[in-house]
Amino acid sequence: MEIGTGMGEATAEIAQNFPDTGFFALEVHRPGIGSLLARINEFELKNLRLINEDARIVLSENMPDQCLDAVHLYFPDPWHKKKHWKRRIVQADFVDLIYRKLKPGGHIHIATDWVAYADWSQEKFGSDARFIGGVIPKPDFRPLTRFEGKGLGKGHIVTDLKYVKA
Ligand SMILES: C[S@@+](CC[C@H](N)C(=O)[O-])C[C@H]1O[C@@H](n2cnc3c(N)ncnc32)[C@H](O)[C@@H]1O
Repeated sequence: MEIGTGMGEATAEIAQNFPDTGFFALEVHRPGIGSLLARINEFELKNLRLINEDARIVLSENMPDQCLDAVHLYFPDPWHKKKHWKRRIVQADFVDLIYRKLKPGGHIHIATDWVAYADWSQEKFGSDARFIGGVIPKPDFRPLTRFEGKGLGKGHIVTDLKYVKA
């Protein structure tokens, strides 16, 4: 499952490169859904389903527990200002939700170009004894995303994090 696919370039590329894996893409932004639908059509993808809804609602209300092998969270909105930190998707209740929906041995892979968000995510997932993990090198399978490109253009440092459900 990928949360927040944006315009879906990376999502479609990953689905194309792993044709035997089934993917769910969750995105609240309708133009992003439209863009990814066009890519599904263009690449003739049969292994990718889109849901135009808040990931937290879909996960908590529509997905059974222990159903996911992996969750991809690539360049979540960083919400730089302290007064907006409560809007960040990575929160204690999100960590709990991800734990419940992952299969044993499943993982979440987070990438961010905002160092403070990497620290924030490490604090939330790293302090939860039910997960094992931390910073990893960028995996080859993860394409450059649109937001990543923008961040790199501004000189931002990209961090990849992986936490496995123990
Ligand atoms: C900064 S963009 C990154 C998009 C893409 N992953 C990339 O790297 O280019 C974050 C995306 O997450 C989406 N998003 C934010 N909160 C979400 C939620 N609760 N459920 C689903 N999508 C969400 C936003 O609409 C936005 O498209």
